[in-house]
Amino acid sequence: MDDSEIGLPRPAPQAAAISRELTERIAAAIGAAGGWIGFDRYMTMALYEPGLGYYSNGKPVFGPVGDFVTAPELTPLFGAAVSRQVGSWLAACCADDPLVIEFGAGSGALASQLLNSLERQGFPKLRYRILELSGDLRRLQQQTIAARAPQTAGQVEWLEAAPAAFTGVAIANEVLDAMPVRTFEWNGEALTEVGVAVVDDRLDWQGRPADDSLEQLVAGLGVDRKGWHLPYRSEVCPQHGAWLATLSQAMQAGAVLLMDYGFPAGEYYHPQRVGGTLMSHYRHRSLTDPFMWPGLQDITAHVDYSRLMAAGEAAELQALGYTSLARFLLNCGLLDELEALPRDEQRLWFSQAQAVQRLVSEAEMGELFKAVAFGKGMPANASLPGFIDGDRLAALR
Ligand SMILES: C[S@@+](CC[C@H](N)C(=O)[O-])C[C@H]1O[C@@H](n2cnc3c(N)ncnc32)[C@H](O)[C@@H]1O
Repeated sequence: MDDSEIGLPRPAPQAAAISRELTERIAAAIGAAGGWIGFDRYMTMALYEPGLGYYSNGKPVFGPVGDFVTAPELTPLFGAAVSRQVGSWLAACCADDPLVIEFGAGSGALASQLLNSLERQGFPKLRYRILELSGDLRRLQQQTIAARAPQTAGQVEWLEAAPAAFTGVAIANEVLDAMPVRTFEWNGEALTEVGVAVVDDRLDWQGRPADDSLEQLVAGLGVDRKGWHLPYRSEVCPQHGAWLATLSQAMQAGAVLLMDYGFPAGEYYHPQRVGGTLMSHYRHRSLTDPFMWPGLQDITAHVDYSRLMAAGEAAELQALGYTSLARFLLNCGLLDELEALPRDEQRLWFSQAQAVQRLVSEAEMGELFKAVAFGKGMPANASLPGFIDGDRLAALR
């Protein structure tokens, strides 16, 4: 389909040139691989190819001038609420040498919010570490923290790789949904891996019989495919479990807080969800064609929280809680944070109230997003303010 036909804003010439170069590079990778690559390889290149991928090409991605808005971009009250849970874990695991590690810190908004709030809670010596794949985002994070939390400059460092050993709190907001997925289709008899080929001079979907590793991944979803409406297409992320296992290996004691779109397996792989959850974002619109303008649109897939929970427990993490983002933030006092804002600047107050509404509304981010927490070696009395009410861990087992 010609992009002008569907009324999307066209990319600027420089952005279009980046996308063309990335498309050529992906087409070359497809050629070198014999004419086909898995969607996970495509997603890796589309998002992270050095200098060209969506998160590596220097184009703004967050906020009004970008393509989507994440929770910490909406309002600093998000980080202020999250800090109540993070602070209670820090007090329990490492009050003398508090440490937070954030994965995929985006613009640095959440980092600045946590640094400011945790300082107010009595952690002035907090060490904050960021692991970020994109050099451009790392620079943006440095600028954001310097502007919004300048007093904490010496406390923040960027890591080149996950630490080999740490005691502290790890946090990732909307990072799991940016990890590459393998896409599959089940026709009632055979499983196909739906990957990417060059068809009529453009990148497009193309199927191949699933290999053993994909057969195993799909068999391991723990859902009965007999009921699936056919043809049934969905996706699975091979990286989530390995990522959590690596984190667990390094974590001597502490907690992990992950927030992202997603559901339990029964909902994710519901018989009627025949198209999976793969989604692209371009200039605040949702697209279903991940091959339109590679490098200029974000590509995401929801998290299968049942699989994530099983992976965490297999990696010797203790599941601490699982609930909707709305419930987690309300439990953490999001409304108190709003109430505490001065009302003399009415426009500012209303904009914050609107952002809070987006975070907690079931129709917006409140229900589709979830918060899940794992712990290791935490004292039994470590408090869980974020999960005190409305915990749904049982739904994942
Ligand atoms: C949708 S953005 C979210 C950014 C930010 N956390 C926020 O909430 O605004 C996804 C981020 O995840 C990062 N990312 C993806 N995979 C990662 C990984 N394995 N380790 C660290 N960061 C990763 C990307 O580079 C990007 O910064």
